[in-house]
Order: sequence, then C-alpha cells, then structure tokens
Amino acid sequence: MASMLRFNGRVVLVTGAGGGLGRAYALAFAERGASVVVNDLGGDSTGVGKSSLAADKVVEEIRRKGGKAVANYDSVEEGEKIVKTALDAFGRIDIVINNAGILRDRSFSRISDGDWDIIQRVHLRGSFLVTRAAWDHMKKQNFGRIIMTSSASGIYGNFGQANYCAAKLGLLGLSNCLAVEGKKNNIHCNTIAPTAGSRMTQNILPEDLLESLKPDYVAPLVLWLCHESCEENGGLFEVGAGWIGKLRWERSLGALVRQKTQPMTPEAVKANWTKICDFDNATKPRSIQESIGSIVEALNKINSGEGVSANQTSHATSADTSGFAGAIGHKLPPFHASYAELDTIMYALGVGASVKEPKDMKFIYEGSSDFSCLPTFGVILAQKSIMGGGLAEIPGLSINLAKILHGEQYLELYKPIPRAGKLRCETVVADIMDKGSGLVVLLDVYSYSGEELICYNQFSVFVVGSGGFGGKRTSDKAKAAVAIPDRPPDAVLTDTTSLNQAALYRLSGDWNPLHIDSNFASLAGFDKPILHGLCTFGFSARHVLQQFADNDVSRFKAIKVRFAKPVYPGQTLQTEMWKEGNRIHFQTKVQGTGDIVISNAYVDLVPVSAAPAKTPSEGAGLQSTLVFEEIGRRLQNIGQEVVKKVGAVFEWHITKGENIAAKWTIDLKTGSGKVYQGPAKGSADVTITLSDDDFMEVVLGKLDPQKAFFSGRLKARGNILLSQKLQMILKDYAKL
Ligand code: NAI
Repeated sequence: MASMLRFNGRVVLVTGAGGGLGRAYALAFAERGASVVVNDLGGDSTGVGKSSLAADKVVEEIRRKGGKAVANYDSVEEGEKIVKTALDAFGRIDIVINNAGILRDRSFSRISDGDWDIIQRVHLRGSFLVTRAAWDHMKKQNFGRIIMTSSASGIYGNFGQANYCAAKLGLLGLSNCLAVEGKKNNIHCNTIAPTAGSRMTQNILPEDLLESLKPDYVAPLVLWLCHESCEENGGLFEVGAGWIGKLRWERSLGALVRQKTQPMTPEAVKANWTKICDFDNATKPRSIQESIGSIVEALNKINSGEGVSANQTSHATSADTSGFAGAIGHKLPPFHASYAELDTIMYALGVGASVKEPKDMKFIYEGSSDFSCLPTFGVILAQKSIMGGGLAEIPGLSINLAKILHGEQYLELYKPIPRAGKLRCETVVADIMDKGSGLVVLLDVYSYSGEELICYNQFSVFVVGSGGFGGKRTSDKAKAAVAIPDRPPDAVLTDTTSLNQAALYRLSGDWNPLHIDSNFASLAGFDKPILHGLCTFGFSARHVLQQFADNDVSRFKAIKVRFAKPVYPGQTLQTEMWKEGNRIHFQTKVQGTGDIVISNAYVDLVPVSAAPAKTPSEGAGLQSTLVFEEIGRRLQNIGQEVVKKVGAVFEWHITKGENIAAKWTIDLKTGSGKVYQGPAKGSADVTITLSDDDFMEVVLGKLDPQKAFFSGRLKARGNILLSQKLQMILKDYAKL
C-alpha cells in the first residue's frame, strides 16, 4: 500500500473556498493535517454582493471534524490581506490554490467594459495578487506549491465567454512563467481545468450530470500536485468525474518558406500551407529554449543556403521534394532490444575477439573481473530498425528491400553498453538525399535504458536506382565520413577472419542468407557468400580500441565508417590507423588484394583525463587553443563563481578553412567548471561553430557574437539564449 499523502505542518490558502470546488479542496487538505485559510468574498456568481457566511460555514465544518481552519472574507483583489491572515493565524504559507471565480457570460459584442474588467480582476489579477503576496515567503522557505484554475473554455474557446476565456488562458501563461521562475526554489506551479457540479455550472450542465460531477472528483489531483513529494511543475490538466488527463503543446515540423537571397512572400506561405499545418511527426516543445532552438536551426539552414522546402521557383524541385515530405521525420515503430551476456559474448566472437589474445578475455568470458560489452555492439541493438521491414513502410517512399545497401554507419555511445539489458529503440527518418545512382535514407536510432540515452546510431541506407529526382545531395543531418590523413599510418593491425566468420556473426541477428547461402550470393552477383559489412566494422573498431585505448570501453565515444567493398570469410583484414588527437582515423583493407573495404572512417576516443589535453596535432597552430587553455587556468580560481552565474555547457567547434580543426568544451555547469579539448562528455547546452579567426575577434571584442550569429559567421545549436553569456566568459575572463 502506498503511504497516505499527509500535509501536517503545511499551511494552505484556498481562495473562493466557501462553496463548490474550493470547499472540497479546503475540507480535503484539512482532513489530511493541513491548516487551512478559507477565503471567500461570499457574493453571488456574477460577483455582486458580499457575505462572511460562506467562509464561516466551511471553517465550522472543518473544525467540527477536528481540523484547523480560519476564515478570510476579503476579495482576492486584496491578496496581501489574505496572505496576512495565513501568517497571523499559522505563521507561514506553503500552498496557494487560486480558485475564486465568477462569470459574466455575454456574446462578444455585448460584453461591457465592466463585464470585461471584473472577470480579469477576479480571475487573473486576483490570482496574481494572492500569489505575489505569498511568493517571497515560499522562496525564503524553499518550498511552495501553487495551483491556477483555468478552464476548458479558455483552452478551446466557448461561445459567450470571451472575457472569461481570455482570463482563464491568461492564468496558464502566468503559471508557465511561475513554474520557470520558481523551480530553483522548489516552488511548483500547475494549472487545472476542472469540470464539476457547482453553482457556477448549475445552469450550464444537466442536473443529473451535475450530481455525478462532484468537486470531490477534482480535489485529489489538487492535493497530489501540492504534495511535497510531487515533482510536477508547469503542467496543465483537465480533470472531472474521476478522470485526469494532461495537456501539452504540439508543433508541426513546419516548412522553410524563405531562401537566403530572396524575399519571403505570402505565395510561398500559401504553397507550403499543407506542410506548415501537417501534424504528422509533430514535435512537442516543452520550453522556450526548444522553441527558439527550431527558429535558430531554420536560420542556420537559410544562412547556409540549405533546406528550403518545396520552392516555387523551380517546378521540378517542388514536385520532387514534396514527395518525401511525409517521409522525413517519419518515426518507425519503436522496438525493444533485449540481450544477455551470451549475446555480447557471441558478438565479440563474431567480430574476431579470441582467447588467443589475453586482453580479449574481458569480452568473451563473463567471469572476467572487467567483463565488458564491445562498444560496437551498439549497432546490434539498433539493427532491427533496418531489418524489421519498417523501411518498406515509410510513407512517400517505395523502397525495394532487395535493392538496398548499407552505405555508411555512425555510432555514438553516451556511456558504456551494459553487459546485459533491455533497451528501447526509437527510429526516425532523419533525411533523404539524392545521389544520382540511388537515394540515401538516413535513419537515426536512439537506444534508451529507461529514460537514459545509451547510444545513437545513424544508418545510411543506399537504395540503388531510386535517385536522380533532382533532390539535394547532402544533408546537415548526416554524420560525415572524413578523409584519412595524407601520410603513412601510425599503426596497422591485422586479423585473419575464419571461414565460419559470417556463419558466426549472423547469430547476432543479421540473418540475411547472402552471408551464408551460395545461391543467394550468386543471385546478388557474388562468387560466394560475403562477410557482413558490420562484421568488418566490428573487427576494425576492436583494432582501434586495442591499439589506442588499451581495450578500455569507457574511452570509446563514436565511430563512423563508409562501406566500400565486400569481404569474403577467410580473408585477412588490415586496419590502418592514424592518431589525430582523440580522433583515430582509419581504413580497412583486405590483405593480399589491397582492396579498401572500409574507407574514410574514424573512431573518437574520450580523452584520458578531463584536464586540458595537450595533443600535438589537434588544435595545434590555432590561436583559439591558447585562449581555451587560458580560460581553463583562470577557472581554477574563479570557477565556482562563474558556474553559479552561467550554469551551462558550451561545446565549441573551431573551424579552419572548411574543416573543424578542434573541438573544445567549456563546462560551466558542474563543480568549479572545466575546460577540455573534445566534444562535451555529457550533453552540451549550446554548440557554437566559428572559425579560429572569428573566435579571436569575438574574444578581443572586435566582433559581437550576436551580430556574428545573424550574419551567419557564428553558428549555434541548442539554447542560443546562452550565447548572451559569452561575453562574460570570453571577455572578462579570457582577455589576453
Ligand atoms: P463556485 O461559484 O461554486 O465557487 C467560486 C467561489 O469563489 C464562490 O464561493 C465565490 O463566492 C468565490 N468568489 C468569487 N469572487 C471572489 C472574490 N473576488 N474573492 C474571493 N472569493 C470570490 O464555482 P466553482 O465551480 O467551484 O468554481 C471554482 C473555480 O473553478 C472558478 O475559478 C471557476 O472559474 C473554475 N472552473 C469551474 C468549472 C466547473 O465545472 N465548476 C469549470 C471550469 C473552471
């Protein structure tokens, strides 16, 4: 049995508690130990008159049952006085239920100034005044729970209630804001839209319905939202008759209707209207940061001349891209990937881990003290997304599964993969590109353990023969392959695959007969069954981990590969590797033939220590390197103070020419802050991309970051508002 929710020691103020819903709240709180201020003006339902009777009756009822209550007869427009009653009687104020209300229903043109004003004054201004009077007390005690009472009329609109609807939805705006402002002081503010039988609804709802819609069927939600153990903040709930539902915002994926060099026109808006209003695959933004994030993303796309939806200047383009409008953003059915130690061991054997190599024992013997799952097992968890037939179901795309090739693969880990588990995988079509001879579908797969993101995969699926529709060739969503350095490799490791390699590897879930059945292989144009591309991928990643990270799986961050040619079981794989800071570039060849089977690949490693890495190549020759190092040094003295002011993680991508020459992270969120080379270890709040030269101009105060952003010289992803704090970090603390 769950323990009873109690309110002993808490002081609750309920406005309009002389009847209806307010009375039910007051009685319920008192019954569970709270001291209650029963406020009610005691007028009629249109706000005329006043009387102490209503409040007194409820106080008496509470006291009769052994509860603690005092009455207050002020109008909610006297917020200070009402809160003072709580402080005088009980010494504190913990919970405010803004409930008092009246109606002045009129069709819109008949609403008088008086009808309008009194509704705003009682509902919106009254809730503001009462809450403001309680706010600082709540802040000081680091606890507060507030309820705003909205209405379905405000949320959806209702004939004859324009004044009421405006005030009721105004309360939601007020609540949204208080939820944000109060959060750090443990003050939560939620909004309810109730339906209950009361004198307010007696002429609106049928009598038998009135009877069954008891206020008692609303009160339990209010009590839960106000309990100290409830984390809910900023929520909106419809409640009545014993049913409760939560509401949230939904936003369509929308459409870009402007091109960089052209004016924005109403015709372009009209042409994109269906897409703008299409709620398939809609997002659910929860904060202003998420809202602005999309606008910033759009601006970035426009500035870089990309991503214009169905443009009217070219008939061909408009017809061709709109065909995929439903496909991009399409979510494949989510699935679960369950695995045990047996699976991870089988995978390790499938990609060549062997008892011959003592350091491999940790991957193939569950009794090893450091038993670990190979990082590339992350692709196995997600592979159902391309094997489950979901590809054929993508709206607007007709994919012949016999014609697909696995073109490229990207995998990123956010923590080492647990040795056994059950992950939930969500797949979305990130983008579609036209490569002429075929089209490429980018599938993003996110794998979660509970709410925690464990890994992210991007599958690039090449559909032979479906290209040439005049679509875009590149995508900002694609994780790009990177050319290998132009010098002899720093290290080479080889491994001979066994004749059974594909037979063994397929047990990890890729059952395509192409890898074991000669007939299928010859149908596909091969002499004999070929090895799985992802098997070669596993061999190569193992080589990198062994050579540069001493098989420490916690150092594996990400891998990107391009599959170039097939491998036959029995052939020897040769992985050539180049170390560039924490990035290990590599390519894999078949020894003997010299064929490159994996090209333009890399593994990103997590730096050994969080201390600023002093790698010889990455960041060398960049002016910004000095600045980052200097910021790191200064943070040692003033870090805590800056962390308090900023509270965010900034990831920097410093470019030189076309390429990202260095990544840095300034973590001003935890402890006394740190600066290190490489991408953020957790997630970054904002990622800023700019050239080494522009970075210096910003630091020296010659270039304003906001202006750089709007001119496209500085790109920012994430919470762009945080870039306003850049001056503080860069100018004040890093001035050279
Ligand atoms: P009710 O009329 O029974 O209760 C409202 C109480 O507020 C009354 O006791 C009244 O005297 C008091 N009040 C009015 N003006 C006041 C003022 N200036 N200062 C202090 N007290 C004042 O109505 P009910 O149904 O219990 O409504 C409670 C709240 O729920 C209201 O805000 C109403 O708009 C809202 N609501 C109710 C719905 C329902 O189905 N009952 C539907 C949607 C919203």
